Amino acid sequence: MAERLVSGDLLQEDQDTSLRPRRLEDFVGQANTKENLSISIQAAKMREEPLDHVIIYGPPGLGKTTLANIIAAEMGVQIRVTSGPAVERAGDMAAILTSLQPGDVLFVDEVHRLNRVVEEVLYSAMEDFFLSWMVGKGLAARNVNLRINPFTLVGATTRFSMVSAPLRDRFGSVCRLDYYDNEEMKIIVERSARILEASADQEGLDLIASRSRGTPRVANRLLKRTRDYALVKADDRINREVALAALHQLNVDELGLDRSDHRLLISIIDKFDGGPVGLETLAASLNEDSDTIMDVWEPFLLQLGFLERTPRGRVATRRAHDHLGRPFLTPENTDPRKFNGF
Ligand SMILES: Nc1ncnc2c1ncn2[C@@H]1O[C@H](COP(=O)(O)OP(=O)(O)O)[C@@H](O)[C@H]1O
Ligand SMILES: [Mg+2]
Repeated sequence: MAERLVSGDLLQEDQDTSLRPRRLEDFVGQANTKENLSISIQAAKMREEPLDHVIIYGPPGLGKTTLANIIAAEMGVQIRVTSGPAVERAGDMAAILTSLQPGDVLFVDEVHRLNRVVEEVLYSAMEDFFLSWMVGKGLAARNVNLRINPFTLVGATTRFSMVSAPLRDRFGSVCRLDYYDNEEMKIIVERSARILEASADQEGLDLIASRSRGTPRVANRLLKRTRDYALVKADDRINREVALAALHQLNVDELGLDRSDHRLLISIIDKFDGGPVGLETLAASLNEDSDTIMDVWEPFLLQLGFLERTPRGRVATRRAHDHLGRPFLTPENTDPRKFNGF
């Protein structure tokens, strides 16, 4: 079997929740989002009402699920967790909604992947805490109407543009999570090292932070793997040398790019002359799902300015060529007639 693009997989969900901040004050960075949420939460509590529905969007590993849990904790309510693809029928959504206690948070991950009939149940539920859906087919069909407890829908998505307009409009607040800057990443790595009781010096931790692609999930993963490396190879102490060696071993480069990122860029550069190449063609050449490329791998490369999305497809930029040590050939400087002044 061909190597999958997600081979190294630093971005996959982690089961370990010990590093997850529980309260808003422990959530590092995203100052604007935090402030807005804090005000909404305080206001809702003062009014003794449920918090208005919130949608959180941004690339994987930046804290969407964490924030959903924090919202429930700060409101002092239960959280019920599901995801877009997991709810198949209108009746399934109705069953979830009717089981909520007053004020509960319903967290729907990948909310852009809810299907239409399920979404329609949500519309009246979100707006008026009222369910209205058709049961049965043909002559036996009847409409069911039901009042439900007031609740807060927290939706998360990596693709805001794919959330349908009617659903989007029903969220009272929209939170966008951005990649964390280096200072914030340092704080996150320090906090995680403390919780894991890892023995590490500042330089070692800073190196891990600088190579974590602005993504807390990646930082936590690199920290854990570096800690393993230190235990086995270096007296269980993380310093700069040990971190450098561990990250080298993990194939994580100075910018935090791993083998998968390299494969993607090299494919565009070597197989498609730097692009433009259509997403589907690129996906086929890498034997990877195009949604995964778009949602998981591209955002950071776009952020770095290594990749461009053009109407004709993906293009690897000059910076990407430089980083990978590939000559940057544009149509202008490869066409011999241009050099000859024709
Ligand atoms: N702002 C933050 N401060 C500290 N740690 C964070 C922060 N955001 C995320 N994390 C850590 O990163 C991990 C991944 O976050 P998660 O909420 O699962 O991301 P998402 O749902 O956006 O993919 C969490 O388990 C948590 O440990
Ligand atoms: Mg998540």
